[in-house]
This record gives sequence, C-alpha cells and structure tokens, in this order.
Amino acid sequence: MPATPLEVENLSAGYGPTRVLDGVSFSVPAGARLAVLGRNGMGKTTLLATLAGQTKRYDGTIRIGAADVTGMPSAARAHKGLGYVPQARCVFPTLTVEENLFVGLKGRAKSALDEAYDMFPRLKERRRNLGNQLSGGEQQMLSTARTILGRPSVLLLDEPLEGLAPVICEELMAAFAELAKTGDMTILLVEQRIQSALDFADHVIVLERGRLAWAGTPKALSDDQDAVERLLGVGGLH
Ligand SMILES: Nc1ncnc2c1ncn2[C@@H]1O[C@H](COP(=O)(O)OP(=O)(O)OP(=O)(O)O)[C@@H](O)[C@H]1O
Ligand SMILES: [Mg+2]
Repeated sequence: MPATPLEVENLSAGYGPTRVLDGVSFSVPAGARLAVLGRNGMGKTTLLATLAGQTKRYDGTIRIGAADVTGMPSAARAHKGLGYVPQARCVFPTLTVEENLFVGLKGRAKSALDEAYDMFPRLKERRRNLGNQLSGGEQQMLSTARTILGRPSVLLLDEPLEGLAPVICEELMAAFAELAKTGDMTILLVEQRIQSALDFADHVIVLERGRLAWAGTPKALSDDQDAVERLLGVGGLH
C-alpha cells in the first residue's frame, strides 16, 4: 500500500468513564513523519491506541486516506493500512524470532521475511533464538519488523527507544530513517527522547493533559525554549 495521509478531527477518548483525550485535531500528509511529544501521562499512548481502535472513543473522526475508520474495529483498521507497534513490546516469548515474524506475514510469501532481515540484520543472526532470549533492543526490532511485514501505509511507533542503550537507539533511529526515506509510509513517532524525535520528524505535536498544546515544525519547537520548558520540562535541546 502507498503512504496515505492521516486526519484526526476533534478526537476525544479514554477508558470506560475516564476521558483522557480531549478534542485533539491534527493531520499528517502522506509520507510525512510526525513526532508526538509530551511528558509522562499526557495521553500519547492513549492517542495511538485510539487511532488503533483500542480505547473508548467519545467524539471525533479518524480518516486514513479516503477511508473513515472511526467506527471500525482494530482488525479492520489494520486492513486499511494502520500498523501499530505498542509501547509494551509485543513479542511471543516461547516462539523463535522467525516464528514471531511469521505472524506478521499475514498470507505473504515466506521470502518477504528478507524485508525484516534487511531492516534489522541482528534479527537474522538471532532468527532461531526464542523471544524471551532477546535483549530489549532486539525485542523492539522484532516488534517493529513484524508490523512492517504487514506493509502498513500509516505506522504508529510508541516510545521505541524506551529503556535502550544509546548505541541501540541510534541503530533503531537509522532503521526508521531508512524506512521513512522510501516514502511508502506515514509515520507517527511517540518519544521521550526529544532530540531523536525532532531529528527524525518533519512535523511535531505536543500533548498536555490530553489536549493539543503545540503544533509546528521541529525547528520551530527547538527555537521556542519557553514551550520546550513548559510542555516538555527540559531546559534546552542540543
Ligand atoms: N487502561 C487505562 N485505564 C484508565 N486510565 C488509563 C489507562 N491507561 C492510561 N490511563 C490514564 O490515561 C492518562 C494518559 O496515559 P497515557 O498512557 O496515554 O500517557 P503517555 O503520555 O503515553 O505517558 P508515558 O509517557 O508515561 O507513556 C494517564 O492519566 C493514565 O493514568
Ligand atoms: Mg505512553
């Protein structure tokens, strides 16, 4: 599937009676890279989970290209091209790396596994290892690669760098940049490593208590030290 634009309008959602997202609107052009920033508990994961159809929606619409997916269950959204790599890395512990990847093939030929191995050569080296024998970075690679095998047109990545050593973060960000270069995917990246996210993205939104508090380019945010301190709680970016 080619990259498609994502349009979110007036989205409010939460869990049961708890409303977390409140009237969030933004759009991401086809093939663009959006960084979703905000301090802990501000609603970043809830936003991605809502896009994936995994929370209770109160109001608003979600469109992937021409398709209004607002009322669709998660599986139908995936069918429309939405790929979701959740914050809790999703790896089957008692399956091998290769068996984990089979799950992502969804009917594609086994030869498609090479796409995953090209993106993350470490996974090829570890293909006979069990999921529970992988490092955190390898689990993230596997979780991401399995979603990529479904050839999503919109990819949601929730804090892929969380808890990983700097050298692994660089490796992952380089792989995401390669993926972005193909122009085949629209990518939303939630990150606490703000500089990595700003280096990667061409658009940024910042959430504050479930609302859209800031939107603009990475450069505009870097230049707005007041917003950076107020919304992200860090004293300067380098
Ligand atoms: N399953 C749930 N049931 C009820 N409330 C929840 C649930 N998951 C999250 N919340 C609440 O929703 C709010 C937003 O949480 P969310 O996980 O979206 O934040 P986040 O920005 O992703 O934070 P972090 O950076 O720590 O991952 C928080 O107040 C949180 O306590
Ligand atoms: Mg989160």
